[in-house]
Amino acid sequence: MKKFIHALPKVELHIHIEGTLEPELMFELAKSNNIEIPFNTIAELKDAYDFHNLQSFLDIYYQGANVLVKEQDFFDLTWAYLLRCKADNVIHTEIFFDPQTHTNRGISFDTVINGIHKALLKGKEELGISNKLIMCFLRHLDEDAAFHTLALAIPHKDKIIAVGLDSSELGNPAGKFERVFKEAINNGFLTVAHAGEEGPPESIRDALELLGISRIDHGVTCSEDDTLLAMLAIKRIPLTVCPLSNTKLKVFDAMEQHNIVNLLREGLCVTINSDDPAYFGGYMTDNFMAIAEAHDITKTEISQFTFNAIEASFISAEEKERLTMVIKNYLTT
Ligand code: HPA
Ligand code: ZN
Repeated sequence: MKKFIHALPKVELHIHIEGTLEPELMFELAKSNNIEIPFNTIAELKDAYDFHNLQSFLDIYYQGANVLVKEQDFFDLTWAYLLRCKADNVIHTEIFFDPQTHTNRGISFDTVINGIHKALLKGKEELGISNKLIMCFLRHLDEDAAFHTLALAIPHKDKIIAVGLDSSELGNPAGKFERVFKEAINNGFLTVAHAGEEGPPESIRDALELLGISRIDHGVTCSEDDTLLAMLAIKRIPLTVCPLSNTKLKVFDAMEQHNIVNLLREGLCVTINSDDPAYFGGYMTDNFMAIAEAHDITKTEISQFTFNAIEASFISAEEKERLTMVIKNYLTT
């Protein structure tokens, strides 16, 4: 199974580029940019990756992102992630970035997006990995800040396919961003949102009804509501699920209790993704393996996660057909 999963061509739809910052690069950038981090060694830093919920992770994640300063830093971060994609046979990736994490520290929007974008271009050219970029608003910040960020993004519309919503779900309902999302849609952006990671099924309903989203990031608490579950299955509304993230942040106590396999069998368009791999212990192959090891699952079901990801992606119908053939060829050879 390990060999099958590793070689399976994969599509990633839920990855925060800031969450791919490996400890080694964090220390290197802290040194070269003269940024203090409250850890003396990589071992000390890794010891701090002991999370009990989403917020305990976010506190460390934002602190880590402080070392990213120059355009080259954003380039190096993204390039390192793309090399991991290559190693894991990821053929297409849709990447989140959190501009407010950086603009709030005085880093310009252009520095962030240009570094990421240049690496993505090189990844397409040299590694053959296609991509889309999604800009997330931080939901713990206010509506005005989100509107300001949207205005900064508009000149870069050619580089950004969609806007999303991440950070602390509890206490920050989707409705807070209804008007910003409407404005984003009016400007031609697609929309996605984190919902139902720690929040209840109502949080998923809100995101669907108020934000016009094309897919739900996480969404695993949908199984608490049978009516919602049936609707997600019938409408094939995609869920970008992140198994290692969910167990690290105690959304599920153990991988055996993860509901993704049940959701797949109930006909939902569920996909496997890595979320913040540098913090949660693994990239795409590791996430697939974690599910395969904890659940009785067939190779056909494993490949369905990739077919679902192609269906849920923001590429053209022709590209979807092409990627579908790549998977089918893999399965028949
Ligand atoms: N949830 C919410 N915000 C995030 C996450 C997540 O899993 N990862 C990075 N920002
Ligand atoms: Zn996420």
